[in-house]
Amino acid sequence: MSDGLEATLLAVLVVATSIWVGGYIAIAVVARAATATLTPDARVAFFRSLGRLYFWVGTPALVVALASGAILARDVDHGALFTATVVVAVVLLVSFAVAVGQARRMTRLRRALLAAPGDTALAERVRRGARAAGSLRGLLGLLSLALVVLGACLAT
Ligand code: HEM
Repeated sequence: MSDGLEATLLAVLVVATSIWVGGYIAIAVVARAATATLTPDARVAFFRSLGRLYFWVGTPALVVALASGAILARDVDHGALFTATVVVAVVLLVSFAVAVGQARRMTRLRRALLAAPGDTALAERVRRGARAAGSLRGLLGLLSLALVVLGACLAT
C-alpha cells in the first residue's frame, strides 16, 4: 500500500474513532441534561428521536473505524494482541446491536408506563430494564476504550 493511501486510511480511522467515542460521551452528557430538565414524556420522545437520528451517525462511524483499522492492521503479526483486538471488536459490535435493541424496548416500556402510571409491575420492569441498559452502555464504553488502547498497542 502506498504511503499516501496509508496516511488517508489513518486519517479516516482517527476521524471515525473520534466521532464514535466523542458521540458516546456527548450523548452521556446530553442524557444527564435531559434527565435534569425534561418531563418524563418529553424525555422519552427526545431520546426516541435522538437515538434514531444518532444511530445513522454512530453506526457508520463504528463500522468505518473498524474497517479502516482492520486494513491498517493487515500486516500485523497475528499473535495474542491481534487476537484480543479482534475478539474485543466482535464483542463490541454484538453488544452494540444488543444495546440498540434493548434501547428500543426501553422506549416502548417507558411509553407504556406513561400511559399507565399506576402499574407497579410495569414500573419495576422499567427500573430493571433501565439498570440493564445502563450496564450495557457502560460495557460499550469500556469495550470502545479497550479497542482504542489495543489498536494503539498494535500500531507500536
Ligand atoms: C453511541 C452510540 C449510541 C447510539 C447509536 C444510540 C442509539 C439509540 C437508539 C436507536 C435508541 C432507541 C430509540 C427508539 O427507537 O426508541 C436509543 C435510546 C436511548 N439512548 Fe442511546 N445510543 C447511543 C448511546 C447512548 C448513550 C451513551 C446513552 C447514555 C449514557 C444513551 C441513552 C439512551 C436513552 C436513555 C435512550 C431511551 C431508551 C431508554 O430509556 O433506555 N444512548 N439510543
